[in-house]
Amino acid sequence: MTTPPSTGNEAAPAWLPDEETLSRMAGEFFRALPGQPAATESDTEAPTPAFDRRSEWPTPTALPRADSSPTATAGPPAAQAAPTVPTGPPAPSPFPAQPAGPPTADFAPAAPAAESAPAVSTGTPAANPAPPMPTGIPSMDPPPPAPTAGMSPPSGPPPTSAPATFMASPYAVGAPGAVTPEASAPPVAPGPPPVPSPAAPAHVPDLGPYYFLTEAAGYPAQAPELPGFGHLGLPPLPDVMAPTATTAPYYFVQEPDVSAAPSALPLDPHPAFDVQAVRRDFPILSELVNGRPLIWLDNAATTQKPQAVIDRLVEFYSRENSNIHRAAHELAARATDAYEGARKTVARFIGAGSAEEIVFVRGATEAINLVAKAWGPAHIRAGDEIVLSHLEHHANIVPWQMLAEQTGAVIKVIPVDDDGQLLLDKYTALLSDRTKLVAVTQLSNALGTVVPVEQIIEIGHRAGARVLVDAAQSVPHLPIDVRALDADFLVFSGHKLFGPTGIGVLYGKREVLEDMPPWEGGGNMITDVTFEKSSFQPPPGRFEAGTGNIADAVGLAAAIDYVERIGLPNIAAYEHTLVEHATEGLRCVPGLRLVGTAPNKASIVSFVLDGYEPAEVGTALNEEGIAVRSGHHCAQPILRRYGLEATVRPSFAFYNTHGEVDTLIAAVHRLADRRGGRR
Ligand SMILES: Cc1ncc(COP(=O)(O)O)c(C=O)c1O
Repeated sequence: MTTPPSTGNEAAPAWLPDEETLSRMAGEFFRALPGQPAATESDTEAPTPAFDRRSEWPTPTALPRADSSPTATAGPPAAQAAPTVPTGPPAPSPFPAQPAGPPTADFAPAAPAAESAPAVSTGTPAANPAPPMPTGIPSMDPPPPAPTAGMSPPSGPPPTSAPATFMASPYAVGAPGAVTPEASAPPVAPGPPPVPSPAAPAHVPDLGPYYFLTEAAGYPAQAPELPGFGHLGLPPLPDVMAPTATTAPYYFVQEPDVSAAPSALPLDPHPAFDVQAVRRDFPILSELVNGRPLIWLDNAATTQKPQAVIDRLVEFYSRENSNIHRAAHELAARATDAYEGARKTVARFIGAGSAEEIVFVRGATEAINLVAKAWGPAHIRAGDEIVLSHLEHHANIVPWQMLAEQTGAVIKVIPVDDDGQLLLDKYTALLSDRTKLVAVTQLSNALGTVVPVEQIIEIGHRAGARVLVDAAQSVPHLPIDVRALDADFLVFSGHKLFGPTGIGVLYGKREVLEDMPPWEGGGNMITDVTFEKSSFQPPPGRFEAGTGNIADAVGLAAAIDYVERIGLPNIAAYEHTLVEHATEGLRCVPGLRLVGTAPNKASIVSFVLDGYEPAEVGTALNEEGIAVRSGHHCAQPILRRYGLEATVRPSFAFYNTHGEVDTLIAAVHRLADRRGGRR
């Protein structure tokens, strides 16, 4: 039998003991295994509340082995292992039964990994498998309805939209705020088909039924001895200890020590979502790195992917894959529906008036290049001015330099103050009737400054300029409404929004896109071709020459659906507490200089530490399983403004915890303590 993915909301069958009892039984069960420590008081405690650091122990990845028994649940010890305790008849599944058969090497991707028993696929996929649902959202919507006209179901009746041709207007989205039936329908993301788990190692030695309790490759049960910061010529590290030491080796699985945080901080230990449940939606967060639980604080570089996105990609390639727009067959219709449905999802997410205003590109970089190469030469002449800010990523500098070189335009730069805030009066003074374009980031990737783009746009428009917003960093953290902002262009990358790499978005106002020539030529973007002349599709097709990244656009829509379920206002509020916590904790480290201290910041903290190159700090933190970025962050101009070539940059997402922030702070503290030995 296939265990359905748990949503955390299913009503427990009457025969099932309550969660506390299950937890206790599971604890007893695991303690009875050879080599397990004796029971402690905490083993028998009630279920852990949200934000209980004990529950931050990463759950061993629920990778079933090809030869493992279906009951050999690779779940975490304690509560989540409970389903394996034989306490009664099997749970009646609300999901369609799959044909019985011998276990095979085909495993449905477990969603979420840690919560469900290994989903051993034993045959062909169910006709209507259950859609994967994020588990971290407290108030779950009812189960997604059947697929709507916005997208063909993967099986069952044929698609309702016309297959084969480029649809006359597949792009309409609802009125502002209103949600069309297509838009409101959750993505059609049927349950996992029986494909091999991408994470499943091909050949895993037989390690017994509970491989995660032994030393399966890549998943050591015991953290090995760590070398500490030895490569830096430093004395070995003591055991990992919290600032308020406990005797447990991994203090962050203990009660949160809020006393370690400055009392004035608005730490809210109760976000509007369950961070531990959210974490279980991200399989990679169960990884160990150097024997320690992975702490992913490189979110500004890229974000991790929830199971719902991974499953959606598998689903697309398993049941919908085809080229789009151009064939009179079923799969072309499914793929076209999925792709154009994704466009509508993006339009709704950023408040665009129409899906026709959404162009799929590779990422923010390509989107900016598209504007520079298509809009630029048509609107910029010698002597015209392009205004950028000092905060920009290279992606929002270099294409404009190329355009300036090509056209003879001039680049002007809005300066920042010592905290990293844009100087709006200086900005206003820069503008004139020569200003044709203003291009600014909404969130600095190097400093974390939130830029008041609404004001920037309004002031820019008064000067008659078009304004491009680089939302690569802001889109995963702040709600965006392009119409409320009145942005002319807005760009972002899917991979920073919990979606796949290689997909991104250019939003352009309809009239602006219509006024732009294509930038690349080829198939898909034309209406007619002769050897004398070609005519082009209206936007957005005009800007999407060739076969696009169809599957990843669909994956991006799944990521957006996931984020919307948690809610960007909730995300922003919670991440604010993480940034405050990190800022205050790091500020207290001797010899640490924070770079970027604007009052309005989001998700990013940048610093340098006396006596260390940023890369050395990054390497040392990696030894403790902490991933941060060290380097110039593709933002050399702003770092040089502060006399620096590189910083260390922890960056946060909603799946990070205050316990992880404590671990970071403690590790940096230890580095600072060791500094004496280096001088
Ligand atoms: C502010 C900003 N803009 C643009 C980019 C470029 O994004 P991508 O490399 O995904 O195209 C980044 C990437 O880090 C960024 O932080």
